[in-house]
Amino acid sequence: MSGNKFPDGFLWGTAISSFQVEMGRGEPSDKTDWWAWVHDKGIKDEGITSGNTPVDGPGFWELYDEDFRIMSEDLGCNSVRLSMDWGRLFPESTEDIDAPAYYDEHGNIFDVAVDESVIKALSYRVNREAVKRYREILESARDHGLTVMLTLYHWPIPLWLHDPVACHKDIYSTDKRGWLDNRTLVEFTKYVAFVAYELGDVVDLYNTINEPRIVSEHGYLSPNSEFPPGKYDAGMFLTVMKNLAIAHGLAYEQVKEWDRKSFSDLGPCTVGIVPVLQVFAPYDPDDPKDVKASRLIDYAFNEWGLNAVIHGDYDMNLDYQIQPWEQLPHTVKGCDFFGVNYYSRWKVKHVDNGDVPLENFKLMPCEGDCTDYGWEVYPEGIREVVNWAFKRYRRPIYITENGIADETGDQRDRYLKVHIEKLHQAIAEDGVPVLGYYHWTMMDNFEWSDGYRIRFGLYHVDMKTKKRSPTKTVKLYREIISSNSPVQGA
Ligand code: BGC
Repeated sequence: MSGNKFPDGFLWGTAISSFQVEMGRGEPSDKTDWWAWVHDKGIKDEGITSGNTPVDGPGFWELYDEDFRIMSEDLGCNSVRLSMDWGRLFPESTEDIDAPAYYDEHGNIFDVAVDESVIKALSYRVNREAVKRYREILESARDHGLTVMLTLYHWPIPLWLHDPVACHKDIYSTDKRGWLDNRTLVEFTKYVAFVAYELGDVVDLYNTINEPRIVSEHGYLSPNSEFPPGKYDAGMFLTVMKNLAIAHGLAYEQVKEWDRKSFSDLGPCTVGIVPVLQVFAPYDPDDPKDVKASRLIDYAFNEWGLNAVIHGDYDMNLDYQIQPWEQLPHTVKGCDFFGVNYYSRWKVKHVDNGDVPLENFKLMPCEGDCTDYGWEVYPEGIREVVNWAFKRYRRPIYITENGIADETGDQRDRYLKVHIEKLHQAIAEDGVPVLGYYHWTMMDNFEWSDGYRIRFGLYHVDMKTKKRSPTKTVKLYREIISSNSPVQGA
C-alpha cells in the first residue's frame, strides 16, 4: 500500500440481500418467516410492519445481469456481497433427511454429520429451478468481473421451521420456534452443506450469518420489536445469540467440507461471520447508571457473540465471568475473517424496568447529525470498531455494510467520504488489516418492517417500473474506487 492508497487487491463493492431485492419480478419466495411476518394483517395492525411487501421490490431475480453490469461498469466495483434465500431453495421440510446431530452433556449441539447420502437426498428435495437461477446469478456476477461474497443467512428462514405469527401470539403453542430450537441448527447445517457442495465453484468468500445480534435483539429484546417473532425476553435473546454462534461453527465446518471446487484467488473457501458493530456511549457520562447500562449493552451486543464464536465463551448470566459450564470450546470451528457492518453510534440510558439488567436500558433518539432513520452519523466509529475487533480477535476484516438512509440524497456524499477517510486511517495509521469495503446498498430495496420508506440505495429505484437511476453519490463512489483512495474535497 502506498501513500494515500488503499492496499492493492482491496475489494470494492456493494452489498445486497436476497429478500430485500429479489422480488418484484419473477417467482416470489413465499415460504419464509419474513414473508409471513410482513404479510400478516394482525402484525401490521399492531403497527409492527409497514404494510409494504417484498413483491413490489426491485426485481433482482430477473434483472440481476443488468445490476451486475451497473456495479461493475458504472461503479467500477470488483466485488459484490449478496445472499441466498434458504426458504426459496427448500420450501418444503428437509427434516426427514437424516443427518445425525451430536450433543454434549448439557444438550448443546456441536456436530451434525452430513455425508454423501444426505447431500444426495437434499439434491432431490431442493427447488431445482431456484438452484439453476442462483447458479446463473453467481456466474453472471463473475462474468462481470465481480468477486463473489455470499451470505448464507441474511434473515428469512423457512416457514416450516419458524412460524413467527404463531410465536408472536403464544410462543409455547407452536413447535416452529426458529433459532430458539436445535432443530433449526441441524437444518441450517444441511442447507449450508448443500449450497457449498452445489455452488461452491462460483463463490469466493462466504459469510455464514448476517448480524446475529440484530436477529436476536430485534426479534427477542425490544418492547417495540419489528422483527419476527416480536418478543421481549432477555432469556430468549441470549438463547438465540448462543444458537447463532453455534450455527456459525456448524456452517463453517460444512463449507470447509463440501466446497471442494473453490477457484478463488483468496484461497479455498474462506468463511467468516458478519457482526454489526456499533459504538455505544452513556447518554449521561456523569451518571453511573447510564455508564453501567452502556457497558452492558456494548458487552452484550458487540462482544458477547464474538467471544462465543472465537473462544467458545458463552456468558449466559452476563456477569462478565466465564464459568466452566459456560465454556464450550467444542462449538468453536473457526472464523477466517470478520465482515463488519458499521452504521452509527448509540447513546444508552438506564431505565428502571424490573430485575433483568438487560431489560433496563433505552437507546436514545439521535440528537445532532442524524439520518432519515434517526441513526447518528459518527464516522470515527468505523475506525474505532475495526481497531477494537482486530486488536481483540486478530481476524482480517471486510467492511460488509456501511451506508445511510437518505431519501433526498443530500447527506450521502459526505457520509461516504468521511467513512472512507476514517477507514483508510484505520488501515494506514493503525495497521488494521481491512481487505474490502461494501457499501450498503446498491439500490433502494425492501427495508424489512419499514418497507420502501427508507432508502439506502446508491441508485434510486422506481418500484413500479423497476428503473434504476443513479444518485449523485455514484460519481463519488466511482472516483473512490477508481483511485483506490479516499477522495479529497468532495
Ligand atoms: C442489514 C440490512 C439492512 C441495513 C439497514 C443491516 O442491519 O444487514 O439488511 O437493510 O442494516 O437497516
